[in-house]
Amino acid sequence: MPKVTINDLLKKKSEGQKITVLTAYDYPFAKMVDEAGVDAILVGDSLAMVVQGLENTLPVSMDEMVYHTSMVARAAERAMVIGDMPFMSYQTSVEDAVRNAGRFIKEGGAHAVKIEGGSEVAEKVAAMVKADIPVMAHIGLTPQAIHRMGGYKVQGKTEEAKRQLKEDARVLQEAGAFSIVLEAIPMDLAKEITETLTIPTIGIGAGPHCDGQVLVIHDLLGLFERFVPKFVKRYVNLKEEALKAIREFKSEVEEGRFPTEEHSFK
Ligand code: KIV
Repeated sequence: MPKVTINDLLKKKSEGQKITVLTAYDYPFAKMVDEAGVDAILVGDSLAMVVQGLENTLPVSMDEMVYHTSMVARAAERAMVIGDMPFMSYQTSVEDAVRNAGRFIKEGGAHAVKIEGGSEVAEKVAAMVKADIPVMAHIGLTPQAIHRMGGYKVQGKTEEAKRQLKEDARVLQEAGAFSIVLEAIPMDLAKEITETLTIPTIGIGAGPHCDGQVLVIHDLLGLFERFVPKFVKRYVNLKEEALKAIREFKSEVEEGRFPTEEHSFK
């Protein structure tokens, strides 16, 4: 089956077709996302929160990200797989950025990486692209900067912040990013950035005018309860369904109703 490539995503933008991206962190979830025909699977550092149960995304390591990426890559027959560069895997130097991005491709089997930050990471984006590693940028609310931002807050509300985000998007495109995630910014600003760029914008909490949308799969499926951001749509409450099944197993075993002959050997 032909894989989705960065050229397909650029083509979708030029033809006005929406791009879909979802996160996944292991084989069974990636298999479902791939089978559903979603264009790209992001192995997000959000795994720290939704899989590892940590407070924020900062502690997840390169080794853990590469490990999860390899499970996802094994499942993806069509979707493009994007590895999310964790905190301190690229902030330290251009060399670290290229080396760690290379690990996602070489060890994790990813087709691209994602990096948070504006103009200040442009040099790193350019170096990774020069090493033939496609890079998705990520601006607006960048969760790795939670301590600087003072929490998970909507960005780009002042005139100066709007100007800076527009400039960041332009510089990142020029540095060679193939796409930009716009997280938690006003929808009019996202529209303006989307119309200015030739590369696709992928929104999360950035309104309907982006070229595509991304969500954390645990949010969409109702598997993460700690908080639900305004921009999340819960399409199903899988936790409820799973709980029902687990409780049923428990009572059937306790009451001697499982296993029956049907599930036993003679
Ligand atoms: O880590 C992640 O899942 C992300 C998406 C929310 C864009 O960065």
